Amino acid sequence: MQAKPVSHSRTTLTELMIPSYANFGGHVHGGTLLSLMDKVAYACAAKHAGQYCVTVSVDGVNFRQPVDVGELVSFMASVNYVGRTSLVVGIKVVAENVKSRTVKHTNTSYFTMVAKDDDDRPTEVPPLLLETPEDVRRFLEAMKRKELRASFAEFFDSARPHMLVDENVNKLTNERCQLADGLVM
Ligand SMILES: CC(C)(COP(=O)(O)OP(=O)(O)OC[C@H]1O[C@@H](n2cnc3c(N)ncnc32)[C@H](O)[C@@H]1OP(=O)(O)O)[C@@H](O)C(=O)NCCC(=O)NCCS
Repeated sequence: MQAKPVSHSRTTLTELMIPSYANFGGHVHGGTLLSLMDKVAYACAAKHAGQYCVTVSVDGVNFRQPVDVGELVSFMASVNYVGRTSLVVGIKVVAENVKSRTVKHTNTSYFTMVAKDDDDRPTEVPPLLLETPEDVRRFLEAMKRKELRASFAEFFDSARPHMLVDENVNKLTNERCQLADGLVM
């Protein structure tokens, strides 16, 4: 399969934040932003893969600043990493207030997508042609995130059987929770 450059699938979606996107606090719902991120991740992944793609997991969704109605939000997506059938799309989200001329970087998140064939089975995607030092840095960082996620999952799975409730309940002492009267464990 011939490698495709990052530029082949780079995608930007810019959307005006309209009142129906807002929560009762007047800011935009996190879920609305997630849905738009999923959309742009799909577009970017499908362009690279040349196939239908599905979202498998999402990393790094930390909204650092609120987004407000009236702002123009841009979702800048590019393929950061390619495996055999999976690919990681990095999305930088920037909100712009055109009146006050302020721009804020609200989050950068990473969507792992898998390409599917016509029988709904994972199918191979083209390798990624890295043309700039930035492309190389992003690919290496995605490899590290994948490795760390796997070791976290392994660590947590091995720790879980030892997390017996009656042996650990004393750890709740300084937490902001309360055991209900009559609770039997
Ligand atoms: C994602 C999915 C195809 C994986 O199926 P599977 O039988 O486990 O397939 P494989 O083991 O061959 O994995 C396929 C790829 O997904 C990757 N993958 C699977 N689970 C993953 C996870 N939790 N996080 C990151 N990557 C994952 C594998 O590493 C593999 O990548 P590679 O080919 O680049 O090495 C399957 O779980 C699925 O279809 N899930 C539903 C996705 C969906 O519908 N999303 C929309 C939300 S409703």
